[in-house]
Amino acid sequence: MRQKILVTGGAGFIGSHTCVELLATGYDVVVLDNFSNSKPAVLDRVRQIAGRDVIRYEADLRDRGNLERVFSEHAFSGVLHCAGVKAIDEAQRNPIKYYQHNFEASLALIDAMARHNVRRLVFSSSATVYGESARVPYREEAPLAPNTVYGRSKMMAEEVLHDLVSSDPSWHIAILRYFNPVGAHPSGLIGEDPSGVPSNLMPHICQVAIGKLPELGIFGHDYPTPDGTGVRDYLHVVDLAEGHVKALQYIFNEPGLLTLNLGNGRGYSVLEVVRAFEHAAGSRINYKFAARRAGDLASYYADAARANEVLGWRARRDLTEMCRDAWRWQQQNPNGYE
Ligand SMILES: NC(=O)c1ccc[n+]([C@@H]2O[C@H](COP(=O)([O-])OP(=O)(O)OC[C@H]3O[C@@H](n4cnc5c(N)ncnc54)[C@H](O)[C@@H]3O)[C@@H](O)[C@H]2O)c1
Repeated sequence: MRQKILVTGGAGFIGSHTCVELLATGYDVVVLDNFSNSKPAVLDRVRQIAGRDVIRYEADLRDRGNLERVFSEHAFSGVLHCAGVKAIDEAQRNPIKYYQHNFEASLALIDAMARHNVRRLVFSSSATVYGESARVPYREEAPLAPNTVYGRSKMMAEEVLHDLVSSDPSWHIAILRYFNPVGAHPSGLIGEDPSGVPSNLMPHICQVAIGKLPELGIFGHDYPTPDGTGVRDYLHVVDLAEGHVKALQYIFNEPGLLTLNLGNGRGYSVLEVVRAFEHAAGSRINYKFAARRAGDLASYYADAARANEVLGWRARRDLTEMCRDAWRWQQQNPNGYE
């Protein structure tokens, strides 16, 4: 009998790639998603790649009746909690939404897990929990001081998980702090499909390259970085998905709480990404410089050593591969999953 894993937000960008890796590794997968930022068609593509289907529930995590039904109908070996909302600007304007979907929803999930005695959880956190006071490269033990609502909503969920393990050591939890996942599955069947104008760099570049947007705005070119543009730690989404499977397998046998950065361990500037993309796509990307955005940091990247030591995981795919796969996805799906 295969072990069964619940993936919340499994139709999203990271969740869908993680479902593919879970299926390929031999798990059965149940997806719970409210499709607020994804489409059910994603899961058909996951089946196309993996050759096996997931069981799907269209439900909001905050709806405790639905959660109860899902947990009553399946015996889960573990949960990957990828559901959440992630637009940093929107979070500043609408904090209630972010605390509801990232904090309240997480609380509802772990409550259902506790009641059904499912105590293995991998949680999607974010490098934004570190904030501007941390020194780069960010190490997991750096003090948390997020400077955005989004980062605080993730930190609050992390704190609950710490309290949970302190109160009951039979929990097995991994908190994964992602840096900047980009790229797409090499098949070109699944990828990032933002609604509206993308707020992240790579999908924005893709939409300029395909002609849907006229140009890329680069916010700030006077940062104290080698070329003046912001530096971030980009990693391929398939590397990230593989990291989830390794983290899950690790916590199966290890109780307690493990916190890991999942990043490349090096930074790339916005202009470096633009140049790499131009090379991969064989065309120029129009861009213009604009003023810095409030809250943006000049440069941050992960110290990714612990994930390598503990899980034997490291990001293996380079920037060229990230750009090539993102571009393939965009070309094959100019309008996303519509
Ligand atoms: N993409 C990034 O750059 C990044 C970086 C760090 C952390 N994260 C975190 O990783 C997770 C996945 O991110 P992603 O990029 O795949 O985002 P995504 O928006 O593509 O996927 C999130 C999924 O969760 C679903 N969802 C949202 N709220 C829900 C709710 N209340 N109930 C049920 N489903 C709900 C959405 O419909 C979507 O399918 C999120 O928690 C995000 O905060 C993302």
